[in-house]
Amino acid sequence: MKKLISTFVFALTGIVSAFSAEVINVVTDNTQLVMRVKDDGRLYQTYLGERLSPVVELSALDMPRTNVTSSVFRGNEVYPVIGTEDFYDAPFEIRHADGNCSSVLKYVNHRQQPINGGTETVVTLRDEVYPVTVVLHYLAYERENVISQYAEISHQEKGRVYIVRYGSSMLYFEADEYYLTGFSADWAKEMVMSNQQLQFGKKIIDSRLGSRAADFAQPFFELGIGGQVSENHGTVLMGTIAWTGNFRFTFEVDHDNELRVISGINPDASTYLLPRGEVFRTPEFIFTLSQNGVGQGSRNFQRWALNHSLYKADEERMTLLNNWENTHFDFDEPKLAALFGEAKNLGVDLFLLDDGWFGNKYPRSNDRAGLGDWQVTREKLPNGVPYMVKTANESGVEFGIWIEPEMVNPKSELAEKHPDWILRQPNRETYYFRHQLVLDLSNPQVQDHVFGVVDNLMTENPRLKFMKWDCNSPITNIYSHYLKENQGNLYVDYVRGLYKVLDRVQQKYPDLYIMMCSGGGARCDFKALRYFTEFWCSDNTDPVERLFIQWGFSQFMPAKAMCSHVTNWNRRASVKFRVDVCFPYKLGFDIDLKSLSPQDLEYCQMAIREYNRLKPLIYAPDLYRLVSPYDGNHCVMERVSDDRAHALVYAYDIHPRFSEQILPTRLQGLDADAQYEVREILLQPGRKSSLSYDGKTFSGDYLMKIGLKVLSGSDMSSRILELKKM
Ligand code: DGJ
Repeated sequence: MKKLISTFVFALTGIVSAFSAEVINVVTDNTQLVMRVKDDGRLYQTYLGERLSPVVELSALDMPRTNVTSSVFRGNEVYPVIGTEDFYDAPFEIRHADGNCSSVLKYVNHRQQPINGGTETVVTLRDEVYPVTVVLHYLAYERENVISQYAEISHQEKGRVYIVRYGSSMLYFEADEYYLTGFSADWAKEMVMSNQQLQFGKKIIDSRLGSRAADFAQPFFELGIGGQVSENHGTVLMGTIAWTGNFRFTFEVDHDNELRVISGINPDASTYLLPRGEVFRTPEFIFTLSQNGVGQGSRNFQRWALNHSLYKADEERMTLLNNWENTHFDFDEPKLAALFGEAKNLGVDLFLLDDGWFGNKYPRSNDRAGLGDWQVTREKLPNGVPYMVKTANESGVEFGIWIEPEMVNPKSELAEKHPDWILRQPNRETYYFRHQLVLDLSNPQVQDHVFGVVDNLMTENPRLKFMKWDCNSPITNIYSHYLKENQGNLYVDYVRGLYKVLDRVQQKYPDLYIMMCSGGGARCDFKALRYFTEFWCSDNTDPVERLFIQWGFSQFMPAKAMCSHVTNWNRRASVKFRVDVCFPYKLGFDIDLKSLSPQDLEYCQMAIREYNRLKPLIYAPDLYRLVSPYDGNHCVMERVSDDRAHALVYAYDIHPRFSEQILPTRLQGLDADAQYEVREILLQPGRKSSLSYDGKTFSGDYLMKIGLKVLSGSDMSSRILELKKM
């Protein structure tokens, strides 16, 4: 059956005119999107859902909408334009040079071509009256069931043409009910999941924070089509936008209960002057449509990220010791040298020096000064960064360093020298966020400066292995001296400027690993993760809070990208519990190791050894979320290897009730016919497992139908089990 559909799809390879083929299919193993050119020459979505059998007459999908009462409604145009007869929200709006605000986009041709792991469909639409072209791209990753789409907009008009909205995608659904899960955020409160039914009218999830874009709303959603979203059941569209800036998702339920989903850059305050001949490429909207709940959707996303998206996905990640929570700004050479030794003794790969190492006229001894002056503070570190790298390496660990190159403190030499590089209103009072301001990355000179921060450090210290690239302020005082009267381009050109810098960094320093950080997890999109190897999920490292935050990020993000550090937040929790909460992700430590008892230190050392042994499994894409912390006092997850021969079960009791009944947790994703040996790992020094089944063998069928009692019922306790196929 699949073979037949592929044959059909590839028959369309090459440029096809409107008359020879009017049906366009975008297919993955389980999902199919069908578009059709109708008699009016426009392109319409006629189907989006589970992949169909090829015997279905595709034109039969072109059914009239039910209950259509309005005679003006044209249908589900794939890229409708504001200013025509589609009276609902649309992804595209243009203001032509003559002031006219309409465009009718007609199908010109399409082609399909293989890409790595999938097929790209490229559809060209053009306005017959104005020289405006929109090229729609659909990248279908078959095995992962992920589709990514974006648009390229251009024109050949003389005069000033503005694009007012420039969405990446428009999708339509028709069902009786829709439920939306969104992810709100704040500092130390990332990825808070909330769910609501969508009914008539519009719901928007968007961001206007510019640089620290995801601080209040994170760029992900889950949409239950026809019912509530659940972990293993139901049809769910999971979507995200690959853009490190303002984004907008619009969900509009119309008078016929049909749902439109528009995704793209947030066009607020961003009416964009598009020069003639220049191609405006929108960010990719990436989605998966799972018929088996969000669990399958997450596995699709994680597999896709590892196969096609995450930077250095096929390379190792380094465990590390960070000094931020331990020392804050208060360190010097001897203190750091001692920490290098501690890092080595702990067993991590790398020491990461955080904020506070730079600035001389205005030393960075707190967050009020020094940002922008990326010269080492001579009083603190008289022998400079090279000495730090050398000493760390001699101690047996790699060295990494913190930067925040997009920002400036007004109390800095950079601000004194280049006031015009700073985003700041010329005629209004300046607003400060964390006492700092944002540099104008739309300006090529500023791009050079930001690139120079990395370049200078790397030139001086070729053995630098790692950077933590922070971004602690949203864009405030939105005004660019460089863009002059084209201020509408600023939010977009800022992000593009950032990508230009990151492109240069990646090209010149391909061995450098960079953690993305934004005062915690306020930057976390898949475009940035084409440059960054990992991201900091949150400054909140209280293990209980982290269970929720990581549960949220795991909906979309692979474990390899999610930095999770053991700290002293919540000392009521045991060190074992704190380590076990970080263990399923990219493990690090940000803790005064001297505060640990010898037993706790020994536990951490053993955990790192186990982590190194189990890395391939920990980073595997198949995550099964078995018990949600949102549902009660527990959390259980399971990670399964691709061949289903190896699995880990992570079980956490948060604050269970007194004498609470503990039921077995049924596992998932195993081979029912295979036998698995179950062993508790990460036991505290000198302790044996209290589990009666430790070391015993069970069939996959038993483990999935009856399950294991993995929870203990004790406050803030955890167990990690390893399952090996016999
Ligand atoms: C915010 C980050 O999230 C922290 O980890 C730390 O790097 C501080 N910035 C330093 O200023």
